[in-house]
Amino acid sequence: MALLEVRDLGVSFETPDGTVNAVNGVSFTLERGETLGIVGESGSGKSQLSFAIMGLLARNGRARGSVLFDGQEILNAPPKVINPIRANRIAMVFQDPMTSLNPYMRVSDQMAEVLTHHKGMSRAQAVREAIRMLDAVKIPDAANRVHLYPHEFSGGMRQRVMIAMALLCRPELLIADEPTTALDVTVQAQIMSLLAELQREFAMATILITHDLGVVAGFCRQVMVLYGGKVMEQSPTDPLFETPSHPYTRGLLRAIPRVDREGDQLESIPGSPPNMTREDRGCPFAPRCAHAGEDCLDHLAPLTEFAPGRLRACNRSLEEIA
Ligand SMILES: Nc1ncnc2c1ncn2[C@@H]1O[C@H](COP(=O)(O)OP(=O)(O)O)[C@@H](O)[C@H]1O
Ligand SMILES: [Mg+2]
Repeated sequence: MALLEVRDLGVSFETPDGTVNAVNGVSFTLERGETLGIVGESGSGKSQLSFAIMGLLARNGRARGSVLFDGQEILNAPPKVINPIRANRIAMVFQDPMTSLNPYMRVSDQMAEVLTHHKGMSRAQAVREAIRMLDAVKIPDAANRVHLYPHEFSGGMRQRVMIAMALLCRPELLIADEPTTALDVTVQAQIMSLLAELQREFAMATILITHDLGVVAGFCRQVMVLYGGKVMEQSPTDPLFETPSHPYTRGLLRAIPRVDREGDQLESIPGSPPNMTREDRGCPFAPRCAHAGEDCLDHLAPLTEFAPGRLRACNRSLEEIA
């Protein structure tokens, strides 16, 4: 049985301006210990997708479809089903550590609380385990620093604390939502290699959410490219980089800095992300796509497998966009 099976997941929000369709018809399967990257520009629905899985949507949000975790339906599940899973079997790390760390509590107290609550450890046991986990994320002098407050750590170190916090219960699934976006480039690289190391060491299935296709290359075996809440392309990572099958993916690839093209202008994709309040049956990327025709504005071909394990949703054939 797969660890996570997401079927036709949709998320919409009721707003005074109408319904926002933030996520439409997303499906994927994640096996134990596997890695999936979810990539797309800001506003493409990446975070709402993971919030829906975790049961953390805002009050005006509705999720539909199905999310089986270890065979159990967790989408819109009651607290008695989702609470023992959240933080314990599925953990999240975010761009901003202060969304998961309490600024008024010592790190030792926050970490110990998670373990006494979910694992029934004694306080002394829990603090020892917290120190071991801070060691694992390579925080120097963990035995003393465990007693600091979050603000006493630098940005990169605080991100490590949050990762340690997420890993405390040895989750089977980690969802990392833009975990390095707020950090400078060197620290970013350090945190990504730490995450990759921990992912292997703990054999956790991991969903890495990022706007940067470059970040998934060394980390994820599978990639899903989202735009305007819809899946544009879904593929094992290597072939996606070799032969991207969707005009949007090609745009994202051209936006990655490459050492072998030093001095080149980085390309950005022309146009701006879509307004999602329209009831939208068309391709959300159409207004920015060099290959789009009139048909793309009101119809998008269903996601179709065009090579083993590779899916694309595009009205144009591969030859037409070559
Ligand atoms: N509570 C809300 N009410 C209305 N719209 C929302 C709400 N939360 C998010 N959205 C919209 O959902 C869309 C997807 O957002 P999000 O998943 O956060 O994007 P990202 O890919 O940057 O993580 C955006 O258009 C955003 O404005
Ligand atoms: Mg986001």
